[in-house]
Amino acid sequence: MPKKLALTPPMGWNSWNTFSWKIDEELIKGAADAMVSTGLKDAGYEYVVIDDCWSLKERDENGCLVADPQKFPHGMKAVADYVHSKGLKFGIYSCSGTHTCAGYPGSFEHEFQDAATFASWGVDFLKYDYCYKPKGIPGELLYKRMAMALRNCGRDILFSACNWGADGVHNWIRESGAQMFRSTGDIQDSWQSIKNLALSQFGKQSQAGVYCWNDIDMLVVGMSGHSENNWIAGEGFGCTDIEYKTHFSLWAIMNSPLMIGCDIRNMNDKTKEILMNRDVIALNQDPEGRGPYEVQHWSNDRVKALVKPLENGDYAIGLFNFTDQRSEMSLEFWDIGLPYASGYALEFYDCWAHKTVGQFRERYVTHIEPHDCEVFRAKLVNLNKRRRRK
Ligand code: GLA
Repeated sequence: MPKKLALTPPMGWNSWNTFSWKIDEELIKGAADAMVSTGLKDAGYEYVVIDDCWSLKERDENGCLVADPQKFPHGMKAVADYVHSKGLKFGIYSCSGTHTCAGYPGSFEHEFQDAATFASWGVDFLKYDYCYKPKGIPGELLYKRMAMALRNCGRDILFSACNWGADGVHNWIRESGAQMFRSTGDIQDSWQSIKNLALSQFGKQSQAGVYCWNDIDMLVVGMSGHSENNWIAGEGFGCTDIEYKTHFSLWAIMNSPLMIGCDIRNMNDKTKEILMNRDVIALNQDPEGRGPYEVQHWSNDRVKALVKPLENGDYAIGLFNFTDQRSEMSLEFWDIGLPYASGYALEFYDCWAHKTVGQFRERYVTHIEPHDCEVFRAKLVNLNKRRRRK
């Protein structure tokens, strides 16, 4: 009986954002070590994923992909074994076209062979890109091919489709059998990028859920302008801790996979605090996997509320200030299904301050700093019951 993959949004680390082509066995082993020693593993992060640039530029005489022996001198199975020895899962990358985005061999017309190779190495996760797609064949078919190959390769391999939201992917990817799908172009380490990507997926939550998650792209939390890849980060890039907090909160409440992109071997305390906020992670990992809906603020459409029902009857509530000014936000409970006359109130637990802030009956009003957010777990309390008991 195959294991059920992606019951909740996948969590892990991916090499691309910070290291791009500069990857090797030592880095991946170091990342696996750091996953354990920093507490990321205990917080729920599981997959260690090698992105593009791991193979030789040519397949071998049998048409098999070959790990670059300079970068991975002991082969890929040895790396997978090491990752597994830490109690973690191992991920790798390929592409639905003839080449990967960085020009290495893609899996087009090699789908079943590559799935078998990955299985033999002990791969648990495949990110599958969309570059160099041959003309004349629908992208949808290419994802269906690899999904079929993976689902029958004899190993549980989570299929992470990465076609950047193209070709109406929201409408067909779940049926194709993938466990997550990139819905956006590539993230950059900037507030503008975070904001654009998140807003592009508002209102699209009904097309994702348990077994197939909308992936808004890997996290830039903690990168602080550092990357080998100057398109993603570098001089002039980087975000404030507040912006990283908001980024993490958005990805969490929107049920995106949480794939870390910073150098986890060298995280500062703030980065750790953000990435390992268990209250926020719990909202992301809620077993029911319902996406949030948006509630408009009456006076300001750039201050947004996302509300997501949780398995135990609570609600996740995120209030996000996308403006550059300190702004008022008021969430009217009428808009989320709670009339004043019901006799119920919502008790707000602040997932960043880690404390209960009070009970509110009709609305919650606050002021949020630019690019900041507030995130709550709200519990319904019966006011009549409480009064009667006294
Ligand atoms: C694309 C993907 C990125 C990354 C690179 C690798 O741009 O969207 O996430 O995998 O390819 O070349």
